[in-house]
Amino acid sequence: MSILKKHTALEKNATLLLIASLAVVTVGGMVEIAPLFYLQNTIEKVEGMRPYTPLELAGRNIYVREGCYACHSQMIRPFRDEVERYGHYSLAAESMYDHSFQWGSKRTGPDLARVGQRYSNEWHVQHLIEPRAVVPESVMPSYAFLQETPLVVDGIKAHLVANRRVGVPYTDEMIANAEADMRAQADPDGDLSGLESRYPKAKAANFDGKKQVLTEMDALVAYLQMLGTLVDFSTYNETSGYR
Ligand code: HEC
Repeated sequence: MSILKKHTALEKNATLLLIASLAVVTVGGMVEIAPLFYLQNTIEKVEGMRPYTPLELAGRNIYVREGCYACHSQMIRPFRDEVERYGHYSLAAESMYDHSFQWGSKRTGPDLARVGQRYSNEWHVQHLIEPRAVVPESVMPSYAFLQETPLVVDGIKAHLVANRRVGVPYTDEMIANAEADMRAQADPDGDLSGLESRYPKAKAANFDGKKQVLTEMDALVAYLQMLGTLVDFSTYNETSGYR
């Protein structure tokens, strides 16, 4: 009872209430904000994450340009229905090189965070050219023009440099070889040693099925096929990070 009475004094005196509220908010703010200055990193490191290859990065730019995010998220939430459908929930580290990130909950189409290697390159090309050819009830638009649009190769260096400025660890060597790496990844018969040493697990293929020209389709499919494949979850432990 007495504590309630004391509270009456607070509630009846606007100035006192204001001062007391400020004091509470100040303490609360300090408790929440101060630790952030002492943390080395708010993202837990995981094995396997690497910057995107130049071809994947170009594909990602097309993904953003075409607004695929308006219908697709890249964030699996830790709920049973999502984990059963899409796989392990997304880790913060898996989008650490995303500028801008592709999280979200707007899903006219399914989440794409782990779509990589789930379908063949041919399936993706067919699906992007005419979604209803492979999924009859699909409401996804056709992106057939990507198959006809040559990929702009020069300028990719600038994209790597821009990403480096915002924290993606592209090395001078990666930037110097950006154009060559971009071409190499779309030509599985060529010399892949440089690409693979710079970008572990990079998969080379003739993604769009057309040998002569490097198209926007090559880049977008290369990007989709990488999504969710970098972190090896067989070595990842829920509680301690690693086994
Ligand atoms: C208007 C909404 C819409 C837009 C925009 C859209 N999609 Fe889709 N997407 C869908 C729907 C609906 C499905 C499920 C049916 C299907 O597979 O076609 C889907 C399915 C997919 C799938 C198969 C996923 C799976 O797990 O089966 C991929 C891959 C995909 N979309 C990629 C893209 C890409 C890349 C873009 C941009 C170039 C894009 N989508 C733009 C609606 C959209």
